[in-house]
Amino acid sequence: MSPRQLPVVEFGAPVSAVPRGTPAADTPGDSRLVEFRPETRVLPAFFVWTLGCQMNRSDSEEMAGRLLASGCAEAPSMETADLVVINTCAIREAAENKVIGRQGVLARLKTANPGMRVVLTGCSVRTSNRAGLAKRYPAVDLFLRPDEEPELIDRLGLASAQAPVGALAMTAATTLVKGAEVSDASHLVRARADAIAGGAVSRGSAISAWLPIIYGCDKTCTYCIVPFSRGPERSRPFDEIVAEARALAAAGYREVTLLGQNVNSYGHDLAPEPRFAHVQTQRTVGRAQDRTERPDLAELVRAVDAIRTGDGAPAIPRLRFVTSHPWDLSDRLIEAMAACPSLCEALHLPVQSGSDAMLRRMGRQYTISHYLERLARIRDAVPGIALSTDIITGFCGETDEEYADTIRLLETVRYDQVFAAAYSERPGTPATHLADDVPADVKRRRLVDLLAVQEGIGLERNRAWLGQTANVLLDTVVPLRAHSHDDEDADEEAAGTTASRDAFAHLPEGMAHLLGRSRESKLVHVAAPPALLGTEVNVLIEHAGPYALRGRLA
Ligand code: 5AD
Ligand code: SF4
Repeated sequence: MSPRQLPVVEFGAPVSAVPRGTPAADTPGDSRLVEFRPETRVLPAFFVWTLGCQMNRSDSEEMAGRLLASGCAEAPSMETADLVVINTCAIREAAENKVIGRQGVLARLKTANPGMRVVLTGCSVRTSNRAGLAKRYPAVDLFLRPDEEPELIDRLGLASAQAPVGALAMTAATTLVKGAEVSDASHLVRARADAIAGGAVSRGSAISAWLPIIYGCDKTCTYCIVPFSRGPERSRPFDEIVAEARALAAAGYREVTLLGQNVNSYGHDLAPEPRFAHVQTQRTVGRAQDRTERPDLAELVRAVDAIRTGDGAPAIPRLRFVTSHPWDLSDRLIEAMAACPSLCEALHLPVQSGSDAMLRRMGRQYTISHYLERLARIRDAVPGIALSTDIITGFCGETDEEYADTIRLLETVRYDQVFAAAYSERPGTPATHLADDVPADVKRRRLVDLLAVQEGIGLERNRAWLGQTANVLLDTVVPLRAHSHDDEDADEEAAGTTASRDAFAHLPEGMAHLLGRSRESKLVHVAAPPALLGTEVNVLIEHAGPYALRGRLA
């Protein structure tokens, strides 16, 4: 069988050289007729490999949706695909190395299937590093910045009159941030609206949905590449977000997560409107920001919560938002969290370090006392709320005392979950002007020690659930162990899956090992009929590990 051929990628070609609707000449041999001839080519089967954060996963759903709408089919694996789209993360060097390490495999696949094309997008593609990308990723045919992703279909020559979803003639643009040329996400707002209108978002789950509300990041964290890869903050219009939420509710989604690199600054860049006259807030820490008469996250959360079923219950029973920056976490939002029944009792609030001096070097714009004041207020307003955070160990100049401050903070706050990583210097970020002077083994040891401290705290937090009932949205059937794979073993161990699998080894007829999350974001294993997948059930917690709970249907 001859390999399926993907049309040649047009490097840097303008979007659609012949505008749609250009009258065709009447000579049969006229090359301009090509666009109007019946399709004879076989469309490629695509595979999207997504790394990084939830925003990337949401972006991948949009790219997959555009590809499906243009008639392509999804391949089950990279090996069987004619088109591989890699959605990269650049937050740490390790994430980039994962993709660099696959170049050999991709090159071999391309030799076996000469029609195969590889597209690399996401945060590893920036205006500033474009020139060196081909050398770093030799198997890649086309590089797209995150803001250029809506062009995917056009750039692959896959747009057709039947599927105009990719052919928006997006004008991806760049803008200057502190003298550096970065991408500008302005048109992503339009692209999302068009993708939604065209049904070109292929959601990865029929139970939980991502809902992007703001693109880009305006913050000043000195270690972070995101402001350079994703550009300044651009909010989606309020009504479009609420309409998308309403459509998700109508489609039966049980959980929606509002997404943004910084959801708390939602709306500050939108035009003031009289209907938001009651929003009269100013930022109290960090760079000043006037938010008068503009919608904010509190307003948005209340509007989505207000979508109700006939009996008055929230049509989307579980609402979440991620990620929050402490400088924008307003009293208005805390009040909305307390007032809206659909808002889950969980908050991810990255702190990064427990030392004020370190926070200053990181450009975080708040102090630990401000951060703790916010947490106290939230815990007061939403009793039982589960808290999680992000920590970086070994950032520039981190002393033993500063590290000890972070450990003390974990012991004070007693987070339910901590995502920690060793500092990884990122090209072009402000922190490259500071000395990356904590030796790699010290960064690593601090990370391991910190995670060990947190493991004890997490276990204690989870043990408090023993004998309690958790409301769990079941979203996964855990398969019986068919084969063993080291990486999977490690992941499963962390999620408590191995222990639960043993506990559920002899299930009665009609029962399966299901997994879901409680409203507090706890992973919960339970034996239940598979028909309960996609529903919320009450689970009596009988076993607690540091990373997951196990119980039986209550
Ligand atoms: N090195 C290590 N961790 C980082 N993060 C962001 N940039 C870096 C970096 N250069 C972490 C932060 C952030 C999370 C998403 O990733 O903790 O909150
Ligand atoms: Fe990674 Fe940040 Fe880009 Fe998400 S936004 S993919 S975390 S670099």
